[in-house]
Amino acid sequence: MWITGASTGIGREIALQLTALGVAVAASARSVEKLNKLEPGVRTYPLDVTDQSAVSATVEQIERDLGPIDLAIMGAGTYTPVAADRFDPTIFKHTMAANYFGVVNCLAAILPRMLKRKGGHIAWIGSVAGYRGLPKAAAYGPSKAALINLAECLKPELDLNGVTVSVINPGFVETPLTAQNDFPMPFLMTAPLAARLTIQGLVRKRFEIAYPLRFVAILKFARVLPYALYFWLLRRTILNA
Ligand SMILES: NC(=O)c1ccc[n+]([C@@H]2O[C@H](COP(=O)([O-])OP(=O)(O)OC[C@H]3O[C@@H](n4cnc5c(N)ncnc54)[C@H](OP(=O)(O)O)[C@@H]3O)[C@@H](O)[C@H]2O)c1
Repeated sequence: MWITGASTGIGREIALQLTALGVAVAASARSVEKLNKLEPGVRTYPLDVTDQSAVSATVEQIERDLGPIDLAIMGAGTYTPVAADRFDPTIFKHTMAANYFGVVNCLAAILPRMLKRKGGHIAWIGSVAGYRGLPKAAAYGPSKAALINLAECLKPELDLNGVTVSVINPGFVETPLTAQNDFPMPFLMTAPLAARLTIQGLVRKRFEIAYPLRFVAILKFARVLPYALYFWLLRRTILNA
């Protein structure tokens, strides 16, 4: 299996837990130094997912080293909070390039191979932040909403061709990505637990793997609320206005 975003946080934990289960793991991220701190059993393939030709060469190399990739998890991602009065398009471009086009680049490299083999499982990490617009998430939220929509678009056709697709939507998980948050994070969970729930969902070949359940239920309910009520709730809860 191949996983991106494996140097820290959720991706790292998934890589370690799968290795402990005896799975041959190919781990990618940009930081060679952090990848080298993974278990000795993990094969590392340093990579910037925004570089399409590097992604393609990496997939080629992994399949040469380890054989056909049966499971690909795209976990590489970035988050920068955006305030409406400090609107910087470079943040938006950088976020979309890593979170959304990073997955698109990986798909371009791996999908033709899985389609040819008529088998394989491909999964990427979205977020519950992709369900509906949230304050400070103007750059991050759209990238994650796009990833959820991308999975919905591809699933019917991939199903017919024997390829499984999953979208993983975590709530708040304790990782370097959320360490910068200066607000209380409801239902915050640990990265090892997030990894365990992700692996369980992948084993069951679930289309959506979302956790923690209570937070997901609240946000899914918020998703169907009329706009007036949704924005009123955001003002009262998150913005305290
Ligand atoms: N933590 C949460 O609460 C939460 C909630 C929902 C969704 N998520 C999503 O879960 C995924 C993992 O996040 P995390 O919380 O575990 O954060 P993290 O610890 O910051 O991990 C992000 C990973 O992505 C890699 N990465 C970032 N940009 C990359 C690029 N251009 N090319 C290759 N690798 C890149 C990072 O490694 P390098 O810096 O070494 O490249 C790192 O391994 C992300 O997609 C994130 O959006 C997180």
